[in-house]
Amino acid sequence: MKRPNPCWYHLALLLALLLPGLRVLTWPAPTIHAVEAASAETGKMLFTHDWQPRDPLANGGDGLGPVYNATSCVACHGQPTLGGASGRDHNVTMYTLLPARPGGDIQQGVVHVMAVDSKYQETLAKVEKSLPHVSKPKFEPVNTGGRTVFAFNFTIPSNVVLSQRNTPALYGAKWIDEIADRDLIAQEKQQHLKWGLAPASSEQYPVGRALRLPDGRVGKFGWKAQSASLLEFVQAACANELGLGNPAQAQPNPIGRPDYKTLALDLTNEQCQQMTDFLLTLARPIERAPANAAARAKAEAGRTLFHQVGCADCHTPNLGSVEGLYSDLLLHRMGFDLQGGGFYYGAPMPASSGARTLPMADEWRTPPLWGVADTGPWLHDGRAKTLEEAIQLHGGQGTRSAGAFAKLSATQQAQMIEFLKTLRAPQ
Ligand code: HEC
Ligand code: HEC
Repeated sequence: MKRPNPCWYHLALLLALLLPGLRVLTWPAPTIHAVEAASAETGKMLFTHDWQPRDPLANGGDGLGPVYNATSCVACHGQPTLGGASGRDHNVTMYTLLPARPGGDIQQGVVHVMAVDSKYQETLAKVEKSLPHVSKPKFEPVNTGGRTVFAFNFTIPSNVVLSQRNTPALYGAKWIDEIADRDLIAQEKQQHLKWGLAPASSEQYPVGRALRLPDGRVGKFGWKAQSASLLEFVQAACANELGLGNPAQAQPNPIGRPDYKTLALDLTNEQCQQMTDFLLTLARPIERAPANAAARAKAEAGRTLFHQVGCADCHTPNLGSVEGLYSDLLLHRMGFDLQGGGFYYGAPMPASSGARTLPMADEWRTPPLWGVADTGPWLHDGRAKTLEEAIQLHGGQGTRSAGAFAKLSATQQAQMIEFLKTLRAPQ
């Protein structure tokens, strides 16, 4: 048999080295923000402003609405301080309506709690007529066969998926915005290697995946990592929460009212940038050790356990150049009980881009645990009223770690909680 010319080996080797090399060279460098104080100051005013229909700040647009969830950003992002989170009473309800015939369009969006005119008021019944005439459905623990699951207290037809989202805190958004895509991709690689290249579809190993958006960037913001930058999330929030249309994101029409005519865009790009600049000035959460020596020792023991039982596999203390984030910002499959379909923030992703691009119903971005002590209730819909509950409810890729936590002694569990309680919102 004729041996191939050794030239080919060298060429193949060269190519193998060249391609990743080029990839690294073309990765975008991390963005470092220099924020102008005046812009952030105006942004703070816009973030806390109580918006009205035809608001004078809305540039001749229709202002608040026609459908909205609150009249200001701070109404939801206000606990324990400006830029924070909020309770379940401010949860946002999302719907996905599956097509009547295969290949048809999936519709998804938000059932807004309020409208400027009763004729625009959205209710579940407007999504699907067998659902109740409510805009703010209650989502509660229900006991079925000795097991507590969280459910809506009405029957949902099989062509509808309903899910809620709890408000996350925005502290330290600047640090997350500045993390480079390559740091998330490196993290993703490391997790796959650690577990013997387990696929990201695994429900057993904590192998996350970076959500690659259709334009090639990696998603970092939102419960489903659906948005690649803070500015884009702000633009989407303005439109979806308050009905403030802007050049990047149109305001939603009321469900069943595609005929709604808006006057003009409510916000300019500059105003969206000002709000973003304000969020970029929010301090990052900090670790605050208890003053009392015994409590401090307890928290330190808890930190060791946090690593031992595998929490740090996903809640990685450092990511890229950011210390104390406690997140890999990757999507993980979290099991059947934590399913929640749909998302509405961020660039719409065509379903045709493939199931592996769209986040699956049980996939969630690991939430950063910095500040976690002050930002309850916890989990994507706020179903966990305590930190213990939040841990117990981990399923899917989090099952092993939650199981290991359950096997700890009561003293050790208390140590772990004491550690989590050192992760505080900025003062
Ligand atoms: C009705 C409550 C509510 C209001 C009002 C609201 N938000 Fe939010 N916010 C949420 C929820 C819920 C999420 C999580 C959404 C998701 O990820 O699906 C969120 C997420 C965010 C995030 C992403 C945070 C992260 O780390 O992923 C940003 C940024 C944000 N909001 C900014 C704003 C701005 C700016 C305004 C005002 C224009 C605003 N929000 C108004 C509820 C609200
Ligand atoms: C497989 C990855 C993974 C592991 C391992 C893991 N978590 Fe999580 N954690 C997540 C994800 C993803 C969520 C969000 C799930 C949701 O909201 O439905 C979450 C949510 C949380 C929350 C709620 C945060 C919030 O802001 O709502 C806490 C607290 C938490 N985890 C602590 C822990 C602790 C303690 C451990 C170890 C016992 C642990 N986690 C192990 C991925 C993980």
